[in-house]
Amino acid sequence: MKPIVYVTRTIPEVALVLLKQYCEVVYRDEVPPPKKEDILKNVVNVDAIYCTLNEKIDKEVMDASPRLKVIGTMSVGVDHIDVEYATSRGIYIVHTPGVLTETTADLAFALMLASARRIVECDRMIREGKWKLAWAPTMMLGYDVHGKKLGIIGLGRIGVAVAKRAKGFNMKVYYYDVTRRRELENELGIEYMELSQLLKESDFISIHVPLTSETRHLISEKELRMMKSTAILINTSRGPVVDEKALVKALKEGWIAGAGLDVFEYEPLPPDSPLVNLPNVVLTPHIGSASYDTRNRMAQYAAEGIIKILRGEEPDNLYNRDVVKIRALHSVKMI
Ligand code: NAP
Ligand code: GLV
Repeated sequence: MKPIVYVTRTIPEVALVLLKQYCEVVYRDEVPPPKKEDILKNVVNVDAIYCTLNEKIDKEVMDASPRLKVIGTMSVGVDHIDVEYATSRGIYIVHTPGVLTETTADLAFALMLASARRIVECDRMIREGKWKLAWAPTMMLGYDVHGKKLGIIGLGRIGVAVAKRAKGFNMKVYYYDVTRRRELENELGIEYMELSQLLKESDFISIHVPLTSETRHLISEKELRMMKSTAILINTSRGPVVDEKALVKALKEGWIAGAGLDVFEYEPLPPDSPLVNLPNVVLTPHIGSASYDTRNRMAQYAAEGIIKILRGEEPDNLYNRDVVKIRALHSVKMI
């Protein structure tokens, strides 16, 4: 008998074809994410869940699924999954590290350029018929990106890819991370700084940490007040890493010059969010990895991870490596 996988919503065909070769697929072919009760109903007899970052896979979901062996998420971030509980139950988690790194770094850089050079404001001005003077010495002035100081918070896969792009723009690059990476400092010509110093020194700050209990509101009023009044904050990590209320205040009152945001505390961003009316913010709807090629690669990688686990192999995109030890310790109970 083939193992059963529940796919929570519409995914690229490439992954579905792959899953169908090895599994019986319970496919919810709908673009919006499922309601919690749908998930609870569908996971009862499955061996695997294929989800996205919008589905909360918590204790309740896992408890509703006694046979569950693997959760595969079409995302690198795993903050929507109760990792600790999954691991304690011997459930594997596979995700999509690496395959979306360059695409997400491209977006972080696009937001940096768009915010600094007021691209969206300019576009709006023209479309609204407000471009009256062909050229003016003081029209739509913004900030240079080249040659400026970039502070990266979280020098992981995406942080490194952003640093490499910044070097091409002749920027001075600082970083802050829980782990100091001396070999990368030499290789990339970048400098480690404590967070407070990085906030004070940088012209641009780009956030690339995962959302954890330590990084929730890592950037709050105190940190925003440390930044230069000409600085621009870019967030393509997770919304709750930045205290959005404090950010709105900072942008309104000019503690910082601007922001480029792909992620928000609540997604989709409510239309009445004060961010929507601020001219000095560029907003994108969580599209960091949204290129055709990358979304196909992510979909396939998550499917491959699930299949490997179901076939008793260890995939290279296993997130909770401790699960291997836990399963070995409790092998009898967990089979
Ligand atoms: P990664 O390689 O794991 O990099 C994260 C880095 O942050 C690591 O170096 C990590 O250090 C560091 N870090 C963790 N906790 C920290 C803390 N409290 N303070 C400072 N640094 C800390 O992950 P990635 O692949 O670059 O992805 C980063 C995040 O971007 C993902 O988790 C996801 O939330 C987000 N993302 C968003 C999009 C989008 O569509 N906007 C797309 C892709 C990813 P250690 O390794 O030592 O823990
Ligand atoms: C996107 O946000 C991801 O975590 O892959």
